[in-house]
Amino acid sequence: MPYSLIILHGTNAMSFKVTLLPSGREFSVESGETVLDAAIREGIGLPYGCRSGRCGTCTAILAQGEVEYPDGPPEALEHEPEDRCLPCVAHPHSDLVLEAREVESLEQIEVRVLPARVQGIDHLAHDVVRLWLKLPDTQRLQFRAGQYIDFVLDEASPRPMLFIGGGTGLAPLKSQIEHAFHKGIERPMTLYWGVRSQRDLYLPDLPEQWAREHANFRYVPVLSEPDADWTGRTGFVHEAVLADIDDLAAHDFYMAGPPVMVKAALDALHSASVPDAQIHYDSFEYAAAKGK
Ligand code: FES
Repeated sequence: MPYSLIILHGTNAMSFKVTLLPSGREFSVESGETVLDAAIREGIGLPYGCRSGRCGTCTAILAQGEVEYPDGPPEALEHEPEDRCLPCVAHPHSDLVLEAREVESLEQIEVRVLPARVQGIDHLAHDVVRLWLKLPDTQRLQFRAGQYIDFVLDEASPRPMLFIGGGTGLAPLKSQIEHAFHKGIERPMTLYWGVRSQRDLYLPDLPEQWAREHANFRYVPVLSEPDADWTGRTGFVHEAVLADIDDLAAHDFYMAGPPVMVKAALDALHSASVPDAQIHYDSFEYAAAKGK
């Protein structure tokens, strides 16, 4: 049955069923909900980033059904094929069948608001601080590596891993790399960390320590506005990756950072025919505040 995509301005007045492929999982979307909000409510792990139709992280294939975008055509669909849809801003206009990548189930992690006391503030760089927060003794914060962003590490893949971070994009990648070390993953891992100048390399010793302690880990800092005494790599971080790696399609990619960096890297990886399934990213788009 051919799909159709329509863009209307209006609201739904009933609930619709969404079926995900290839898993076959189903859930209902209530009136006024986006597809993504309903999936989160049901504990179904769809990937997402900005939740505002701009980053494209949630892009799925609309195999059957019709959706509407009450706020108008989303930016991230501008150059996409007509059968793509964005669950983060799409409201069903009929029952839907979506081909969507699912991430590890979130069922075990309840979304909660917890009080916390700031116990310490470390100034890591001129514009980066690390906060140490203390929860009440009776509360426990569950966390999965990469939880802030929309992917968890693909531990089953046999491919080498390339981590590309821009600025504070190191933070989500850090948890994934440390998780990989913890799990004893021995696949080659390379971190490319792009910043403007040396003062932006907060926690500068940590990646170097990882490289000393783990033979399968390599670290390449890249400065776009290098200091006079810098002898390392220069330029944009994705260009360093392209210059160094011949067989891009033989790697898994994990990227986090400013939208301009992520977009440039994505374009380059797509040009090199790297399959989408091997590209995981978080573009630091503004995330609209949600009720949860
Ligand atoms: S476009 Fe849907 S999460 Fe960003």
